Amino acid sequence: MSARQEDPMGGEVPPGQLPASPCQGWAGSTQSSIQDRNFTVQMQNTLQPLCLSLEKLQQVKVRMLEAIELGLSRRTHAQATVRMQPAFIRSTPDGTERGDFLVVELGDPDLRVLLVRLTGDEHQTVTPVKDQRFPVPKELTQGPGEKLFAFMARCLCEFLDGLGTVQKTFQLGFSFPFPCRQTQLDQSYLLGWTKNIQCSDVEGRDVAQLLQDAIQKQQDRYSIDVLAVVNDTVGTMMGCEPRAEPCEIGLVVDAGTNSCFMAEARHVELVEETGGRMAVVSEWGAFGDDGTLNDLLSDFDRLVDQESLNPGKQRFEKLISSLYLGEIVRHALVQLTKQGGLFNTHTSPSPALKQEALCTQDVLKITDEQGGLATAQRVLRDLGLEASDQDCFIVQQVCSAVCTRAAGLCAAGLAAILSYMCRSRELARLKTSVAVDGVMFRDQTKFSRTLQQRVKQLAPECEVTLVPAKDGGGRGVAMVTAVASRLAAQRQQIGRILAPLKLTLDDLRKVQALLRREMELGLRKETHATSSVRMLPTYVRATPDGSERGDFLALDLGGTNFRVLLVQVGSREQGGVQIVSEVYSIPPEVTQGPGSELFDHIVTCIVDFQSKQGMVGQTLPLGFTFSFPCQQMSLDQGILLSWTKGFSASDCVGKDVVQLLREAVQRKQHFTLDVVAIVNDTVGTMMSCGYDDPRCEVGLIVGTGTNACYMEELRHVGTVAGEEGRMCINMEWGAFGDNGCLDAVFTPFDRQVDEVSLNPGKQRFEKLISGMYLGEIVRRILLHLTDKGLLFRGRPSPKLQTPDIFQTKFLSAIESDGLALRQVCGILEELGLHVTCDDSLVVREVCQVVALRAAQLCGAGVAAVVEKIRENRGLKQLSVTVGVDGTLYKLHPHFAQNMQATVQQLAPRCSVTFLQSEDGSGKGAALIAAVACRVASHQRA
Ligand code: BG6
Ligand code: GLC
Ligand code: GLC
Repeated sequence: MSARQEDPMGGEVPPGQLPASPCQGWAGSTQSSIQDRNFTVQMQNTLQPLCLSLEKLQQVKVRMLEAIELGLSRRTHAQATVRMQPAFIRSTPDGTERGDFLVVELGDPDLRVLLVRLTGDEHQTVTPVKDQRFPVPKELTQGPGEKLFAFMARCLCEFLDGLGTVQKTFQLGFSFPFPCRQTQLDQSYLLGWTKNIQCSDVEGRDVAQLLQDAIQKQQDRYSIDVLAVVNDTVGTMMGCEPRAEPCEIGLVVDAGTNSCFMAEARHVELVEETGGRMAVVSEWGAFGDDGTLNDLLSDFDRLVDQESLNPGKQRFEKLISSLYLGEIVRHALVQLTKQGGLFNTHTSPSPALKQEALCTQDVLKITDEQGGLATAQRVLRDLGLEASDQDCFIVQQVCSAVCTRAAGLCAAGLAAILSYMCRSRELARLKTSVAVDGVMFRDQTKFSRTLQQRVKQLAPECEVTLVPAKDGGGRGVAMVTAVASRLAAQRQQIGRILAPLKLTLDDLRKVQALLRREMELGLRKETHATSSVRMLPTYVRATPDGSERGDFLALDLGGTNFRVLLVQVGSREQGGVQIVSEVYSIPPEVTQGPGSELFDHIVTCIVDFQSKQGMVGQTLPLGFTFSFPCQQMSLDQGILLSWTKGFSASDCVGKDVVQLLREAVQRKQHFTLDVVAIVNDTVGTMMSCGYDDPRCEVGLIVGTGTNACYMEELRHVGTVAGEEGRMCINMEWGAFGDNGCLDAVFTPFDRQVDEVSLNPGKQRFEKLISGMYLGEIVRRILLHLTDKGLLFRGRPSPKLQTPDIFQTKFLSAIESDGLALRQVCGILEELGLHVTCDDSLVVREVCQVVALRAAQLCGAGVAAVVEKIRENRGLKQLSVTVGVDGTLYKLHPHFAQNMQATVQQLAPRCSVTFLQSEDGSGKGAALIAAVACRVASHQRA
């Protein structure tokens, strides 16, 4: 203790003398009335530990500030005593909240139920339509939690019955004044009971859900949605009447004590918000549980703690709140009685001073300034204690000391919060209202006065007005519930907008069956023209067998990149296939300009590659991966049927691509090429993977575009002569649905994306699945959500008007597992989209829905293919490998998994392995070229 005692109002009392007010206040006439000098010393010794100097309170403030920072930091939060729990409230009410809301406040001894009407008008009138208290039976506060929640649900129904209304549906806010880990407005897990409740089976559980379940068990009499759980401090803060300065702090000193305030979200590391503010519940009652306050605990405090329901816990609370003040006083009186002199005759404490004999209400009455000694005497008499004037005076001093200390400590805590807010907002001065509630503030002008004076001394940079809560936290809880209700309505609206993009298993089965039908039509000569999938023969009759040899040049055109490759195929012992390659970009003006320029560009790249590889003058056989639909009559000829994806070069459709390449070579002097095979990328991929896995008989691309090929029985291929053996069919499934057969699946967003594409009405299946379009679908949905006021606060975002801002790599990044919300915000910020955390959650959800649908549709496609192979071969069970390539498949964190899950569901009799292509399809093109060369040399021989 400091050597000098201080009067809370600022005056100082010299050591050794009796102080001049409460903790201190026994001067003047009464001093002379204390006869026994010894007892006076004992008295002083008893009271001294209860008197905290300003200096000591200053220290408490500093320690509280440290504890606040430990509680806010992610690194130290778990060990922190002051846990600083985020409350998921981002702004104080703006007065527009409206509607009728049910509020339940769990208290001890009463449970309170109210129906509150928010008018949402200019002055935000709040009418408690009805307000009822239900005493909570003592046995329920320490029995099974289920019973306590059942009691709450019963009280609710009784309350509603009493309303006599026909209304059966209500939205409810739950004021639950215990430490919780909140994860969203309607999800709050109890960390541990405090105060006088200790029910089993509640800790660690979501109390919103427990209440919701209990309500449901009330035979469905009412339909009540628990929309928000709030701490009583938050209810208090949010219910503060609108005034000139904002009310950004809530303070409760009741059975327990606690506070909340609006913190800068970026400092609340437990949540991922970075912008704006977030309400944080300090749970400062537990301050000191690590021993931080040990130096100022008195023996009485230790006894009170030991006898409590939670020894060692809530040490700060036990110095301040009403549940404990009576007990502190009682222990002090017991000690004074034992020392003789108090209550005259007794040196053993009167049985009237048994545990819990004195409650805080008594303490408050005894210290009542107006009542004087007479009130003290009456209260003590009611307790069975005959007290002389001197007894009364002494008891008054003890009570005052305990209350003054409580107010001083509370002020130290509040000053810490104020200084923290001031500092974290980089303000020189802070002006704010503090909404206060609890028995210590009701009619206790003295507690408020001392508190306010101390705060002024401890946080001189802050100007504070204490605003007593009008009707408990009920009004504030209703406000929070109103916000939750608005959010829930928005969620529903978003759900409705996204619903058409969510496909059921049944929908997917239909897609699978439709594709199967289209495949049959496309294979048969007579019906070929009516099918949307072209089922193009490739003249590739077998997958690699390892006997392929030689050095080849390969071109790989049509995906994200254009590549030129040197592929050296040796025996497996020699190391198999060696590849050297170079990537070249092809600018859009070339992919969409005159065809001759496109092929000239390709030749230029080849010349560059050859000179880099020191191959000038060499003419190696060439395999050309050309990822567009081509009608082939042989391996080395392919008539371009149409451009797809981002290509639309003129004068190419209807022409043999190999011929176009040869013509470009001719335009270049002193240069020759030997094109022996043209292959689709799916075929190149299948061959490339087939080199490593002989069971690979399907090729799949999910990249810029999407497509598949597979080994079909030649007898089924009506467009090629011959019955024996198999041939690889390039399905060109991207065009599936171009005849209208998939119309039921398309949403307005898909139609918009199709309409502005290079090829409207074409490649409809591809436009639901592949990387080139998914980002655009997402963008269209986001635009719509913004239009509806469900995103970006309804304000148009010019950046979102930019076509193609969401590329595949964006979709992949935003859905990455374990990506913190602040990283999602970061990605969106990089794109120039200024988002709140709620916005970024919505954006992520949209990406997820769109990508999931794509994966599932692709899975339905693969299921149709493998089932056909199985049936072709009359097998009960098929084991097959699918070679896969494409950036969406490779980069997206969930695409592969979601697609595979669908295949498993739709083709349960096929065991399908997916093998990701390592080397791209150029390797496959070279292998096909190798076979072609071998065949040609046999023919020559
Ligand atoms: C590459 C193949 O790995 O993937 C190409 O070599 C193919 O032939 C491409 O076209 C497909 O993916 P994306 O994402 O580049 O279109
Ligand atoms: C206890 C609870 C806290 C509550 C306070 C006031 O400290 O832990 O959540 O706010 O009492 O009721
Ligand atoms: C497009 C092309 C197709 C190619 C696919 C994947 O759908 O039409 O030939 O296989 O994209 O790149």
